Amino acid sequence: MKIALAADHGGYELKEVVKTHLQQNGIELLDLGCFAGDSVDYPNYGKACGEAVMNGEADSGIVICGTGIGISIAANKVKGIRCALCTSLFMAEMARKHNNANVLALGGRILEPDLALGIVDVYLTTEFEGGRHQRRVDLIDSI
Ligand code: RB5
Repeated sequence: MKIALAADHGGYELKEVVKTHLQQNGIELLDLGCFAGDSVDYPNYGKACGEAVMNGEADSGIVICGTGIGISIAANKVKGIRCALCTSLFMAEMARKHNNANVLALGGRILEPDLALGIVDVYLTTEFEGGRHQRRVDLIDSI
């Protein structure tokens, strides 16, 4: 499994924490930046991550800004992306089981690192349930 990671300056520090965690777990990464704490524009990073997932460069993505809001909105503008902003383990579980999310969004100024890594682990290890949820995901894709 290859994960695309992208963050603005508000998510940069947490991106580095997530990156180290994934590397320690042997997960292949595509780091799309940013690469320092200088101010950048989150839409560019949400777009880059969404496109990397949709063109097959990565199997799934994680995007991070200060709140997770702006970068999730940007990622969701890429056709086919279902980006879920999660602040709890339960949200991460449901984002996969019910919504078949293909990008996870986190808030670097919202989450303690331990909770963020827990959310990442749940997101990456939970399967989509399909069934009635597939119909709803298909409806989203048809919008
Ligand atoms: C940048 O200051 C901040 O607006 C951004 O990281 C994010 O929180 C936007 O939604």
